[in-house]
Formats: sequence, C-alpha cells, structure tokens
Amino acid sequence: MVIHTQKETLVQALSSIKKNDKIGFVPTMGALHNGHMSLVNKALEENSLVVVSIFVNPTQFNNQADLKKYPRTPDDDISLLKSVKGEIIVYFPEISDLYEDAITAKKYNFGNLENEMEGKHRKGHFDGVGTVVSKLLKIVKPDTAYFGEKDFQQLQIVKKLVTIEELPVKIVGCPILREENGLAMSSRNKRLSETQFDEAAVIYKILKEVQQKFASTSITDLNAMVAERFLQNPNLKLEYFEIADEETLKTATHKNSKSKYRAFVAVFAGKVRLIDNISLN
Ligand code: PAF
Repeated sequence: MVIHTQKETLVQALSSIKKNDKIGFVPTMGALHNGHMSLVNKALEENSLVVVSIFVNPTQFNNQADLKKYPRTPDDDISLLKSVKGEIIVYFPEISDLYEDAITAKKYNFGNLENEMEGKHRKGHFDGVGTVVSKLLKIVKPDTAYFGEKDFQQLQIVKKLVTIEELPVKIVGCPILREENGLAMSSRNKRLSETQFDEAAVIYKILKEVQQKFASTSITDLNAMVAERFLQNPNLKLEYFEIADEETLKTATHKNSKSKYRAFVAVFAGKVRLIDNISLN
C-alpha cells in the first residue's frame, strides 16, 4: 500500500496504470470503521485498484468546535487499510495540497437538495462537500466512487454534482452498516461515552418503528410519534425528524403512491451529533 501526501505524486502514480484497469475511489475523513471498510471492499471487488482519501475537510464544517473535535486516528486508519487484501493507494494530503490559495468553498446550486434537512441545520455544509469532492474527483479521476447511504443527502448531492460538473464517474451508494445495537456506524461514534453509545441504540429502534407503521399511519401521526419517543429519551435531543421524498429530499406531508420515501433524523447525544435514515417503501 502506497501513501501519497501530494496530489502531484498521486496523479503520476495513477497515470502509469494500464488503460483497461478500473479505478475505484472511496473518499473519507478518516477515523475509519467497518462502514468505510465495506465501501473499500466493494470498491476492491469491482475495480483493479482503489484510492482511499483521508482528509478532514475544513470547508464542510459550519462549527469550528466540531472541526476541532472531529476524531483523527491516522495510525489506526493506515493499519486497517493495510490489513485489507487488494491494491490500495492512500491519498492523505495536508490542507494546502487541496486548498492552495484560500480555504473557501465554491457556491453551488444543487437544485434545492442543499437546502433541505442537513442543509438547513449546517449552513454551507454542502458547498464544502461539493468543493472537496469535486477537487478529489478531478485529481483521482476514478471510474466509480463509493459513498455511504448514512449520509443519504450527501449521496444525492454528489450525484447532482457530477452531472453539474460533467465529471465522467459513476457514483455508487452503499448500505448503512450498523453496530450490534443498531446504531449506524459513524466516525463520530468514537466520541460517545459507553452510556451514550447504549442510549443511542433507540434511534434505529424508532426508525424501524416508523418503517413498520409507514403503510398504515399518516405522516402527521408518525411525526408526532417520533417526537413523543424522543421526549421519553431525554438524553437524546432531537434536532429534526423528517419523512422526505428520496429523489427531491422535499419534506413529505402526505403520501403519494408513486414516490419513494425515507425517514431522516438528526439527534444530539450530549455534544455529539448523530444522523441516520431508513427507507420506508
Ligand atoms: O462523508 C464524508 O466522509 C465526507 O463528507 C467526504 C465525502 C469524504 C467529503 O469530505
């Protein structure tokens, strides 16, 4: 496994690979867990070579304290990637390698996808994601890039980004991996205390209940039920719960038989913000 800290050497290494070799790409912010590794393994199954980037992108954090506290475990990340069978190249840049002049994000119009849910609560977040993903895709030039469905809104935005910028890459969404207690795997889980980790299991339980009741219950009643469930768990502070159309991400108030719906949730366990989602039909 080779580690590049500079885009020039990475681009050079990638330029020498054979014409019919396929490149898979897994962008990450490090603090790798089995969820990331499932993307890496899928990418290895489908490609001859996989590039994994590890970069905590400053422009996608709307809160400096959150950026500062974002878990960073570079040695563990490298050991984990080394333990995988297959050809992996790691891109582990400094900020200046990706943001040469100024650490700023480009302003995007993702057709309103950026203004729903996470976009409302994390101003400018998706401009930062779009900026760094665009930079990374232009450097790595992969055939296929893999993103987890835990960040479902991000996945839809990245699909839109590649059409806006006409980037010749296939974007693949991969299912959420969960801890034994049902909590969606996330780098942020590393910041939870044992008690918070246990308590956070209820997030998935509530989402499963919504999924089970979706066909027979109105969206208004499901919204009320979820609010009530979180009130019964005072250590978890609900930031938002929404049932939304999977394509447009617009909040749904009524069901339409032609649409695909998903339930989305953001919750604070102490200072740690957790998000999750589930497909409903
Ligand atoms: O999902 C993440 O880890 C990040 O948002 C990404 C896609 C690596 C961009 O920084």
